[in-house]
Amino acid sequence: MSIDKKLEQLKKLQDDARLGGGEKRIEAQHQKGKLTARERLDLLLDKGSFEEFDMFVRHRSSDFGLDKQKYFTDGVVTGCGTIDDRKVFVFSQDFTIFGGSLSKAHAEKICKIMDMAMKVGAPVIGLNDSGGARIQEGVISLGGYADIFLRNTLASGVVPQISVVLGPCAGGAVYSPAITDFVLMVKGTSYMFVTGPNVVKTVTHEEITHDELGGAMVHASKSGVAHLVGNNEAETLLMTRKLMSFIPQNNLDEVPMIESNDPDDRMDEELNYIVPDNPNKPYDIKDVITRIVDNGDFFEIMPEYAMNIVVGFARLGGRSIGIIANQPAYLAGVLDINSSDKAGRFIRFCDAFNIPILTFEDVPGFLPGTDQEFNGIIRHGAKLLYAYCEATVPKITVITRKAYGGAYDVMNSKHVRGDMNYAWPTAEIAVMGPKGAVEIIFKKEIAASDNPEAATDKKVEEFREKFANPYIAAERGYLDDVIEPRTTRPRLIRAFDMLSTKRDQNPPKKHGNIPL
Ligand code: HXC
Repeated sequence: MSIDKKLEQLKKLQDDARLGGGEKRIEAQHQKGKLTARERLDLLLDKGSFEEFDMFVRHRSSDFGLDKQKYFTDGVVTGCGTIDDRKVFVFSQDFTIFGGSLSKAHAEKICKIMDMAMKVGAPVIGLNDSGGARIQEGVISLGGYADIFLRNTLASGVVPQISVVLGPCAGGAVYSPAITDFVLMVKGTSYMFVTGPNVVKTVTHEEITHDELGGAMVHASKSGVAHLVGNNEAETLLMTRKLMSFIPQNNLDEVPMIESNDPDDRMDEELNYIVPDNPNKPYDIKDVITRIVDNGDFFEIMPEYAMNIVVGFARLGGRSIGIIANQPAYLAGVLDINSSDKAGRFIRFCDAFNIPILTFEDVPGFLPGTDQEFNGIIRHGAKLLYAYCEATVPKITVITRKAYGGAYDVMNSKHVRGDMNYAWPTAEIAVMGPKGAVEIIFKKEIAASDNPEAATDKKVEEFREKFANPYIAAERGYLDDVIEPRTTRPRLIRAFDMLSTKRDQNPPKKHGNIPL
């Protein structure tokens, strides 16, 4: 065969591969409001940056007539590309080929890019759209999943892993995204569940739709499985790009720095007045965050879940940081099971990837009640405490108002290796709120008084004057400084600069035993 013929043949095979499961199935995919595997990669990656691997891979099965249905790529497009000129490895499941189901060959392709990502230290992004295990391949397919789960686990904390769920993701297949660092979903067309509506109906007699059981909003607001949700695929993929911009390439890489046009010494007068005089009045901690970070740009993670704590990424002086903040505007910012899990996992991600942590604290304590106690607030709260204690990245705290009880210790206090701990003059640091404290320590005195209510109020005022301020903690050195709120941005930028060469480590061990 002449070279021209050979080139023609190559082009034909490539065109064939790029057509996936064929025009009809592509049309069906579009009809469902979904993009194809390749269209998605075009949106995710920098233009023209995609290098495809294993285009000519096909399955090797012959059962159930599979020998007569062979498609190049075998239902997953894999390779390497860039996002803002930074290398990433990607796989994008192609629903037009066997419903994106996972065969041995399909799994091998995913494993290959994961292995390469580990070798060269770059993130892995998986675009999931799959009917699950390739039914015709049986246990061989299950083995393929396990090969991926193992790699997800070994890569955890070495390279960032992001899962974007853009279609079905059911059965055991959910466990690969679940192990990865971030799960993004799209409203309306993606769903995740261990057992689908039919099985649910048989077992529990509940009638429920795919979306009600495992749609994007369920996982974003109820289960906590999804970290971010887009209104459509394009928005979800752009969110993925933005998320990547805050994250280093691997656990040995430095945190991304960009040129910031927001002056480092910018002050914000409004911050001095943002905390209400009445300690029981709420304010929105996100107003505080956006007034301080570069250009007010706060990229919130899990915005619909456990809203009593706010977590997300931002930049200070161009340096990317992770923020954890109690939210007084929701349940008074109390710590509970879900907020502990949410913040604990976020802190561990930041720590694994050298992202400095900034904590804003305004917390009345842990949520009381049988629901919380029976469901293990002890165990879950311990995760948050553990995550803060073990983190060795630069850690700064700003106490804006309440720091009560155990929550004072937990929220990156000096005692758990907070590097720089600041308080605003509005801070109240005590074992508990003034009223609760007074009712205990002056119980007899109040009972004996002619007017118990007035006596309580008087004692509350005395207690507040004495303890509900930052100066006792500052006197002990538990705070490094009490700062004027409007100066918070410049103070934080200077402190993170100072801490940029921080080196700290935990005792050598196989791994700790975080209370799961
Ligand atoms: C082989 C599959 C497939 C699968 C879909 N297809 N799922 N082929 N193995 N798991 C094929 C269909 O035969 C069809 O082929 C094409 O993909 C599109 O499927 P449709 O059913 O026409 O599409 P749709 O109506 O959109 O429904 C999508 C679906 C449904 C909801 C995903 O296909 C479905 O329920 N599939 C089975 C899901 C499942 O039970 N998987 C196993 C889960 S257990 P043609 O040729 O017509 O285009 C699991 C275990 C993992 O995954 C274990 C890890 C530990």
